[in-house]
Amino acid sequence: MKKTIFVISLLILLSLLTPSLSSSTPACNKNDEKALFQIKKSLGNPYHLTSWKKNEDCCKWYSLKCNKATGRVIELTIFSGDISGQIPPEVGNLPYLQYLEFRKLTNLTGQIPSSISKLTHLTMLSLSWTDLTGPVPSFLSQLKNLNYLDLSFNKLTGSIPPELATLPKLVEMDLSRNKLTGVIPESFGKLSETFVALHLSHNQLTGHVPKSLNFSTIDLAKNQLTGDLSLLFGKNKSQTIQIADFSRNNFQFNLSDVKLPASLTSLGLNHNSIFGGLPAELTGLSLQYLNVSYNRLCGAIPQGGNLQDFDNTSYFHNRCLCGSPLALNIYMCGSGGVY
Ligand SMILES: *[C@@H]1O[C@H](CO)[C@@H](O)[C@H](O)[C@H]1NC(C)=O
Ligand SMILES: *[C@@H]1O[C@H](CO)[C@@H](O)[C@H](O)[C@H]1NC(C)=O
Ligand SMILES: *[C@@H]1O[C@H](CO)[C@@H](O)[C@H](O)[C@H]1NC(C)=O
Ligand SMILES: *[C@@H]1O[C@H](CO)[C@@H](O)[C@H](O)[C@H]1NC(C)=O
Ligand SMILES: *[C@@H]1O[C@H](CO)[C@@H](O)[C@H](O)[C@H]1NC(C)=O
Ligand SMILES: *[C@@H]1O[C@H](CO)[C@@H](O)[C@H](O)[C@H]1NC(C)=O
Repeated sequence: MKKTIFVISLLILLSLLTPSLSSSTPACNKNDEKALFQIKKSLGNPYHLTSWKKNEDCCKWYSLKCNKATGRVIELTIFSGDISGQIPPEVGNLPYLQYLEFRKLTNLTGQIPSSISKLTHLTMLSLSWTDLTGPVPSFLSQLKNLNYLDLSFNKLTGSIPPELATLPKLVEMDLSRNKLTGVIPESFGKLSETFVALHLSHNQLTGHVPKSLNFSTIDLAKNQLTGDLSLLFGKNKSQTIQIADFSRNNFQFNLSDVKLPASLTSLGLNHNSIFGGLPAELTGLSLQYLNVSYNRLCGAIPQGGNLQDFDNTSYFHNRCLCGSPLALNIYMCGSGGVY
C-alpha cells in the first residue's frame, strides 16, 4: 500500500517536473542561428556541416555547444574537415563564444578576421594546422579573458605584437611553426603571473631573448636568436623555468659560470655557438633531458647527478668536451679534437 502511494506520488511529481524541465531548456538563440547559417554559407555549405539544418534546434548541431541555461552558443570547434575558404567574419556575431577552434583544415586560407576582437568572452582561441597568412593581429590583446592562444602551424608573417603581453589571464601561447620575424617583445618579461608556457619554435625570430622571462616552459628552438642566455639564468632571475629549449639558434656565450635554476628539468642548447665548459651545478639538478651537442664546449663533463644517464649524443660534436658518457677518456681532455 505504502509502495503504491509512493509510486503514485512519484509519478505526479515527475509529471509536474517534466514540462517545466523541457521549457527551461531554451532552444538555440535566433541571432546565433542566423550567424551560424552565415558561417555555413561562407564556408560553401561543406559536407562537414550537414547537421546544421533549419527546423532543428541549433544547440543540437555538430561542432558546437550551447550554454544550457541561455541557449547561447559558447563553443565552435571546426576540426579536420574538407573545408576550403577563409575564416568567416560572421564568427564575430556569436557574442557568447568561449571556445573558438579551427584546426587541421589545410585549405583554410586568408587572414585572421578582425571581427574576432568582438568575442570578449573567449577563453580559448585555436587556429592551428591551417593555411592562414598575414600577421598575428594586435587586436587579440582585446580578448581579456583569453587563457589559451594557439596559432601554431600556419604561415603567419610579421613580428609578434608586444600588446599580447597585456592579456591578464593568459596561461599559454603557441605561435610556433609560422614565418614570424623580428624580436621577442621585451614586454614578454612582464607576462601575467598566471602565464605558464611560451612556444615560439620554428620561426625566423632574431635578436636577443628578453632578460626577465619568468614562467615554466620556454620553447624557442629553431629560430635565428643571438646573444647571451646567461642573462636569463643569472642570479636574481627566474627560479621558475622547468622546460627550456633554445636549440638550433645562434646563441653565443660562455656557459661556465651560468647559474642554472634548480627548477630546471629539461634543457636543450644543441646547435648553437656556446663555449666554455659545463657548470658543475648541472649535477645538482633533476634533469630529465639535456642536450648540449653541436656547440663549442670544452673540458670535462661533470660526473654525477643524471649527467651520465644521457646518451652520448647529448654531448657530441663539441670542440673538446670529454669524459663519460663520451668515449674520449677524461685524461685526454683538452687535446682539442672535434668529435
Ligand atoms: C584542398 O583543396 C584541394 C584543391 O581544391 C583538394 O584537392 C583537396 O582535397 C583539399 N584538401 C582538403 C583537406 O580539404
Ligand atoms: C634583483 O631584483 C630586484 C627585483 O626585481 C631588483 O630590484 C634588484 O635591483 C635586482 N638586483 C640585481 C643585483 O640585479
Ligand atoms: C617569477 O615568478 C614566480 C611565480 O610567478 C614568482 O614567485 C617570482 O617572484 C618571479 N621571480 C622573478 C625574479 O620575477
Ligand atoms: C669561460 O669562463 C671561464 C670562467 O670564467 C673561463 O675560465 C674561461 O676561460 C672562459 N672560456 C672562454 C672560451 O672564454
Ligand atoms: C641531441 O641533439 C642532436 C642534434 O640535434 C641529436 O642528433 C641527438 O640525437 C640528440 N640527443 C639526444 C639524447 O636527444
Ligand atoms: C657513443 O657511444 C657509442 C656506443 O655506445 C660509441 O660507439 C660511440 O663511439 C660514442 N661516441 C662518442 C662521440 O663518444
